[in-house]
Amino acid sequence: MQTNKESGLRGQRVAVTGAAGQVGEYLCWALETAGADVWRLGHHPGAGVDTAFDLTSAKAVRDRILRCQPAAIIHAAAYTDVDGAERDPGLAMAVNGEGSAHVAAAAKEAGAYLLGVGTDFVFPGDGGAPYREGDATNPVNAYGRSKLAGEQAILAADASFAVARTAWVYGGPGKHFPRTLLRLLRDRGSIEVVDDETSSPTYASDLAEALAALTIARGAGIFHLVNEGHATRFALARDVARAAGLDPAVVQATTTADFLRKTPLPARRPPNSSLRNERAAALGIRLRPWQDAVAAYVPKLAKEMRIAPAVAATTGE
Ligand SMILES: NC(=O)c1ccc[n+]([C@@H]2O[C@H](COP(=O)([O-])OP(=O)(O)OC[C@H]3O[C@@H](n4cnc5c(N)ncnc54)[C@H](OP(=O)(O)O)[C@@H]3O)[C@@H](O)[C@H]2O)c1
Repeated sequence: MQTNKESGLRGQRVAVTGAAGQVGEYLCWALETAGADVWRLGHHPGAGVDTAFDLTSAKAVRDRILRCQPAAIIHAAAYTDVDGAERDPGLAMAVNGEGSAHVAAAAKEAGAYLLGVGTDFVFPGDGGAPYREGDATNPVNAYGRSKLAGEQAILAADASFAVARTAWVYGGPGKHFPRTLLRLLRDRGSIEVVDDETSSPTYASDLAEALAALTIARGAGIFHLVNEGHATRFALARDVARAAGLDPAVVQATTTADFLRKTPLPARRPPNSSLRNERAAALGIRLRPWQDAVAAYVPKLAKEMRIAPAVAATTGE
């Protein structure tokens, strides 16, 4: 993937929604590295946000986007609390469904290309994985339904618009699976992780590069942008532990049923929602295997969290 040398984004104005979010932060950095004139659209004013607004207001979305006059918009903002969406499906739909429709209408009016970020949770995960871009969707929870409504609104607004679905994204300063896992290992020494939930773990930095490349290519329709391959939560956790310099045996397998007995959660998760990237790969946009991404990122995270010495002590190494 080539996004930084003489890229098709040099000098182009690109607006990013959700700029202060996990993907948004990596994305703004990747776009700036590629020479784009990045406008950071956020939810609340603060660091890393040029202008703030609520996606649920069609007027605010239209005003900000028309004022920005971008050549392209990457729509990474979303209500991402999967269990929160189950408790308040109306809010999830207002942000992810209707909010995306507002962004799509404004993009069309501004004459901008639009790339939305979608999710593996639009799939039921009951046997069809790894899912291809054209496979039938059927979400099992309110978050997935709201994200599906959002991608449908984007694709219906203009045939040149795109949605890139991704999955199990990690990286950055906020909450994500490797960070939570290493924190729990530091605190407890060992942990049980479910071995019957599968998807495609994806490093936000690799995703950001791929989203920038897809924007350069002006890909249209549905794409799957994930690190190659798939893993259960347990396999991912063992790999993260190993990459952090720990004995992977500190992670033990459990089942979703057992986990939920101890920690009930309102939203169902698709058992296997791993994704296959076929359409972006045909454009030359591929992400490395997930194990390589974990090996590249986790040692830095472990160092930042000062994790290895503390856990090595608790495991007697
Ligand atoms: N993380 C994953 O594992 C994963 C997996 C599959 C797909 N995705 C998709 O990837 C995209 C980026 O996710 P992420 O991980 O970067 O999520 P994130 O860290 O939660 O960021 C989402 C951003 O959207 C903003 N936002 C939420 N409600 C908003 C509203 N009403 N108006 C304006 N902005 C609003 C949030 O601002 P506040 O925090 O200030 O509210 C936040 O900055 C999303 O479309 C998500 O559905 C993520």
